[in-house]
Amino acid sequence: MRIVRIIQEKKQTEQSDIDLLLFDESIEKYRGKKGNLIPLLQSAMNIYGYLPESIFDKLEKELGISKSQMYGVATFYSQFRLSPVGKYIVKVCHGTACHVQNATELTESLEEVLKIGDGETTPDGMFTLESVACLGCCSLAPVIMIGDEVFGKLDGKAAIRIINEFKVETSS
Ligand code: FES
Repeated sequence: MRIVRIIQEKKQTEQSDIDLLLFDESIEKYRGKKGNLIPLLQSAMNIYGYLPESIFDKLEKELGISKSQMYGVATFYSQFRLSPVGKYIVKVCHGTACHVQNATELTESLEEVLKIGDGETTPDGMFTLESVACLGCCSLAPVIMIGDEVFGKLDGKAAIRIINEFKVETSS
């Protein structure tokens, strides 16, 4: 079931393309402030879409924050990503309603068609597969979301078909 058709374009960013100057303003804003690590990492996420290694280097050099502290925070909170995401983030709901309607089958089918595991991004940078908690449309369970578009009442074959449609749309 197709509900909203707004594709969220995600800019694929490679480590080599990182413009560290974009982060200078955030560093100055939070320099010397107590509890600045999370806002700084959030700021980097907003700028780059993930936390590039070079940001950790820069924060260590300029603010003296240890990398172990940064990685500790970055890996603890799910809002932070350590690698770039694909153009399309395929979210598979594993909330209770979707779980009992066999969301696991959707994830397995998507892993098969995309040839990646949960949390990974396809080598061409097109799709990131991600298990998430309730997407707020339980009556349509099981549900996946791609960009801002929600697909409900799916089985594995339907999920594969949707991915193949996206592939066709993006190649044309
Ligand atoms: S549990 Fe999947 S949308 Fe609520």
